[in-house]
Amino acid sequence: MTKREVIEQLLPKRLPAPCVSATAFAPANIALCKYWGKRDPELNLPTAGSLSISLGKLGSEVTLAPRAGRDRFALNGKLVAPESSFARRAAAFLDFFRPTSDFHFEVTAHNTVPTAAGLASSASGFAALTLALNKLFGWKLERRQLSILARLGSGSACRSLFDGFVEWHAGKAASGMDSFAEPLKFNWPDLRVGLVMISDKEKSIGSRDAMQHTRDTSPLYAAWPETVTRDLAELKTAIRTRNFTKLGEIAEGNALAMHATMIAARPSVLYWLPGSVEAIHAVHALRAEGCEVYFTMDAGPNLKLLFRKADVRCVVKEFSDLQVVAPFSA
Ligand code: DP6
Repeated sequence: MTKREVIEQLLPKRLPAPCVSATAFAPANIALCKYWGKRDPELNLPTAGSLSISLGKLGSEVTLAPRAGRDRFALNGKLVAPESSFARRAAAFLDFFRPTSDFHFEVTAHNTVPTAAGLASSASGFAALTLALNKLFGWKLERRQLSILARLGSGSACRSLFDGFVEWHAGKAASGMDSFAEPLKFNWPDLRVGLVMISDKEKSIGSRDAMQHTRDTSPLYAAWPETVTRDLAELKTAIRTRNFTKLGEIAEGNALAMHATMIAARPSVLYWLPGSVEAIHAVHALRAEGCEVYFTMDAGPNLKLLFRKADVRCVVKEFSDLQVVAPFSA
């Protein structure tokens, strides 16, 4: 099935005229149980489910307006060249939603995640873009349908439609209509996420290509879907029972297992820098001293720490530049 066919099924047939402009915000999210590998690359359908935590006010705000002539993109107050990867990815997604071929957009995006936090913004960006399209064209779609549309832009974006803990159901259908994200009912007010910036340099290989290459060549990949299925079930129990030790152990173990699959790919995909390894050792040393902190990592060298409010002081003592996020505080 193609993206266009899925979109045709989801969008209302008769639409009002577009509004003058529409603005929407979506939070960044960090997976505690990772999405790594697709059963369908066209529709970004995952091999297994995943579970993330959204970062509250840290994310992307997108304003859309119709524009005569050609698309124009601005990011964080600056115009962006149409050939930049930001503009190309956004335009390719918007192409599916132009009412006529000569319809163009003015796209104004702001990331509230400081660039220095080294956090990927594509998930929140595609989620905010989808929400803004829904408003601009008056689709009036439910969050579940919007989650499916955002997934077509970037898989992890389907989780950024919601706050708090969010599960992305892998689904089984070839159409992907059963592959959407959903928030969990549980909150955890004293949970903290710390962003450790190791490097903000552009990566040599993006997550999209890296996950396909891992799936195609890594001898360790065969064990991954089973690991995710087990971790996902245990993580949900840890969240339900507020067992922080379990949550931390599973999230850290899951990230390491994902990195193990890619490190073993041929050729290897190694996102870790010397500073990443140093930070991993520092986390382990803190834990040995009784400061309970765990880490997770995505397709990059930066660490995201997980700890509780009571341990903020000992974590910040070790990681002095840490940006601390309270995902459940309003
Ligand atoms: C390591 O969602 O960026 O962050 O679907 O190809 O756009 P595409 O991939 P993307 O991959 C994210 C991978 C990850 C893990 C995760 O967020 O679950």
